Amino acid sequence: MQSPALRHVPLRPSDLAKRKQAGLAISVLTAWDALSGAVVAEAGADAVLVGDSLAMVVLGHATTLPVTLDEMLHHTRAVGRGVTAVCGPEQQPLLITDLPFLSYQCNPDEAVAAAGRVLKETPAAAVKLEGAEPETLAVINRMVRSGIPVMGHIGLTPQSVHRLGYRRQGTDPASQERLCRQAHALADAGCFALVLEHVPDALADRLRRELELPLIGIGAGTSCDGQVRVTADLLGLTPQQPPFSPPLLQGRQLAVQALQRWIAEQRHPTTPAAGAAPHCSAPDPLDR
Ligand code: KIV
Repeated sequence: MQSPALRHVPLRPSDLAKRKQAGLAISVLTAWDALSGAVVAEAGADAVLVGDSLAMVVLGHATTLPVTLDEMLHHTRAVGRGVTAVCGPEQQPLLITDLPFLSYQCNPDEAVAAAGRVLKETPAAAVKLEGAEPETLAVINRMVRSGIPVMGHIGLTPQSVHRLGYRRQGTDPASQERLCRQAHALADAGCFALVLEHVPDALADRLRRELELPLIGIGAGTSCDGQVRVTADLLGLTPQQPPFSPPLLQGRQLAVQALQRWIAEQRHPTTPAAGAAPHCSAPDPLDR
């Protein structure tokens, strides 16, 4: 049973640092609609991330780049409804929304306005954004001073796919030092937590010890303060899962097989329900 001091109503961004101090693992799962929001909340996630991975997972895009701020707001409201439907006020997880590509890179005023829309127009209490370039750090600092909690994200940053690909990052000493500088700069800019994606375990371990803010890993070993996963990957629903996020079950295969059985049953019922019209034995011309 958790100490009430660590489970505010709902969980606040600053509570994640308290969990780190108390040595409690932090579980973050993505969601994209009311159904997935309800499932991850019911499973007990500490935080629910409406990640821009929904561009690929749900909207069928090839990268995360095309998703718009309006789409992110729409999905966040749906996730919020799903979470609220299953969680009493005592168990509300922290809801975080990704700022999509180009909503924060072009102009600092637009960036703060975009993050502000997330907090004004949805139940999310924080935003996440990628990178640690000087302009990004300045924008994060402005958001934080405006009262907008920000989660950082470095390492593999899918919004930079055309520059970095989906490769593992921090594989040589120079890039490891750069990532360390970035992580410290994000902490100094006021981020309440940091996602570290697809980097060597030893680097994650070093950063976890150096930083006060919670380090949330994905493909960054097991020593981080918490872990984040794309829920559709964990459930085996996406066509291919990244190597660092193996599925817990073959959800897609299970779903397809169950639906195939149901469809076959409709076409060739074996036990007609009592009183039901007899099944037509003539072959269905459209039967595949
Ligand atoms: O968009 C997303 O789902 C993410 C997680 C992979 C951290 O950013």
